[in-house]
Amino acid sequence: MRHLMSPLDFSVDELDDLLTLANDIEHYPEKYAHACDGKKLATCFYEPSTRTRLSFEAAMLNLGGSVLGFSSADSSSAAKGESVSDTIRVISCYADICAIRHPKEGAALVASLKSFIPVINAGDGGHQHPTQTLTDLLTIRSLKGRLSNLTIGLCGDLKFGRTAHSLIHALIRYANVKFVLISPEELRIPDYIREDVLIKNNVPFTELERLEDAIPSLDILYMTRVQKERFFNEEDYVRMKDFYILTKDKLKLAKEDMLILHPLPRVNEISVEIDDDPRAVYFKQAQYGVYVRMALILTLLKWR
Ligand code: CP
Repeated sequence: MRHLMSPLDFSVDELDDLLTLANDIEHYPEKYAHACDGKKLATCFYEPSTRTRLSFEAAMLNLGGSVLGFSSADSSSAAKGESVSDTIRVISCYADICAIRHPKEGAALVASLKSFIPVINAGDGGHQHPTQTLTDLLTIRSLKGRLSNLTIGLCGDLKFGRTAHSLIHALIRYANVKFVLISPEELRIPDYIREDVLIKNNVPFTELERLEDAIPSLDILYMTRVQKERFFNEEDYVRMKDFYILTKDKLKLAKEDMLILHPLPRVNEISVEIDDDPRAVYFKQAQYGVYVRMALILTLLKWR
């Protein structure tokens, strides 16, 4: 049995197979309509979510399976003090596979150690969000045709933004990938990613504060929101929240074929006037999230 805690849990070849399966699901959904008949997915969400929880549920329903779960800690027995370890042992009696989101880093890993069913990390605090990364990789590979030879700008809250951390981990395994890390000083990428992931693996990167300075060189611009829920005080959040706003004027500096991704939810960091630009693919990205989660459920259940 295998779990998914980090995008690195899959080798590059396994990832390639998973993304190819996701594209097959995209083009031939009817082939997979009964692939999970009789199977159940549990979604255990201790933190709010729209895309991740609902795309997991849509994925399992599209595969012919069914879903059960909870969407907040308050509506589960966590509110009475039940541990994640005990909860997953119980969920193992009810479901065949589980996606878990939790505000604490490492909570999904703790669950996986006690689980009798495959556990998928659907976001653990400011740490990792591997299924968002699978979504991002599928979006880039499908729309750009490659995951190598890319200059990728990550912009916004690079300190707390777990989607950016997971994406860097995943993309360093492809040839000739360069990163431009665009953030205010206070929201720079954590040292462990700079030192242990980028420098240790000789991955080229630059750190900038001005989005305008970065945009002209980028093949992909990955915007992120400032993670309000991870700030210790409201004042700091308010000071940072509108640091970056991608507007039509700034987009004039970009390549004609640069893609704009965003894991969503968006707050204010991409002006809605951009939404109709063909380079803005963040809503398409959310759709790819369903295909890749269908592929992931099939893959993990196959290994069970
Ligand atoms: N991208 C993402 O994780 O969105 P949700 O928080 O809505 O699940």
